[in-house]
Amino acid sequence: MPYFDKRDFPVFDAMPGLVYLDSTATSQKPKPVIDAVSRYYREENANPLRGLYGLAVKATDAYENARTAVRDFIGAASEREIVFTRNATESLNLIASSYGRGNIRQNDEILVTISEHHSNFLPWQILAKEKGARLKFLKCGENGEYTPEMLEKALTPRTKIFAAAQISNVIGRLNPIKEFAEICHKNGTVIVCDGAQSVPHIPVNVRELGVDFLAFSGHKMFAPMGIGVLYGREELLEQMPPFLYGGEMIEYVTLCGATFAELPHKFEAGTVNAGGAVGLHAAIDYISEFGFAKLEKREKELTRLLIEGMKETPHVRIIGSDEPDDHCGIVSFTIDDVHPHDIAAIFDESGIAVRAGHHCAQPLHKYLGVQSSVRASAALYNDRRDAELFLECLKTIRRRMGYSE
Ligand code: ALA
Repeated sequence: MPYFDKRDFPVFDAMPGLVYLDSTATSQKPKPVIDAVSRYYREENANPLRGLYGLAVKATDAYENARTAVRDFIGAASEREIVFTRNATESLNLIASSYGRGNIRQNDEILVTISEHHSNFLPWQILAKEKGARLKFLKCGENGEYTPEMLEKALTPRTKIFAAAQISNVIGRLNPIKEFAEICHKNGTVIVCDGAQSVPHIPVNVRELGVDFLAFSGHKMFAPMGIGVLYGREELLEQMPPFLYGGEMIEYVTLCGATFAELPHKFEAGTVNAGGAVGLHAAIDYISEFGFAKLEKREKELTRLLIEGMKETPHVRIIGSDEPDDHCGIVSFTIDDVHPHDIAAIFDESGIAVRAGHHCAQPLHKYLGVQSSVRASAALYNDRRDAELFLECLKTIRRRMGYSE
């Protein structure tokens, strides 16, 4: 029976005292996930979807059972809508490359929010250049918010795609994706949702949200690196050409042509990451056993502690809103006259891991007029003590950099 705290995560035995506040970059891995991956490679490993012998059938079952678990976890209608990729980045590139190339024409518009991660930004920038389309930006309000009214104003009859994260990896605020999807569909616009920071932290149901595509990564939700998910509405995935060509994504190949496998396999060329899928399955079970209600409560409490302490610390400036309820476990900030890399180095001296830089969101930082920032992000294994140690260290940083207060 897992404990659902640090005791489940061996990294905290390996590094006693570690305060890990960089789960937005990647989460730590609990024993049930590590054990499931290890068991798969010890007992079930063969190349899935190919062999007819018993072990290969076991491997195929393990891989396809993981797909079913993902389908249920995000409320998709069918396994045909769940494509395994390497990560959210690959999922988003797949959409832009396959759906985008087939559907975007000269003078069409693609709208993205200014706070997108480069993964939900660059594929659209490249596509727009290639097609002679226009890339437009939806800018957030001063508290990092995006409203349905903002989207309504920004859409035009030419907007073919709107790409938005459900939770920005810098601002940490939950966007009204359901309302966005309704507005998009009235306008004939396809909505692509980056769920990399939402799927690990809040219940996400693609049918309730009404999104056309959703991308997310396993490694941010306790699963191994190298496994990600693309959800797409079956009707859209059906009409899209493959993204990569090679083994196991075909039906027939002749010297002068080929037909392709059924969904979702036509998008899964080459040997798949079955161990990663098994790990993702175990991660889904782990999160589901704890439950999102408890998970969200814990992360909200921690975010509140962090933000309240930050607000009491002179010279600390939070990016986006300074209301704890406007953050889903992610708080980015700057400290006057101290470079974010120095801030992160001082935290590291105290055994506290935070991320410093532009967090793969340079357009957002430029828009906000800051070069870079520091980000603290929480997950299920963080506790009150982590927040206290973080705040104690935070309060010393300016003095340690030579300022009198
Ligand atoms: N996307 C990850 C982050 O925001 C890597 O840190």
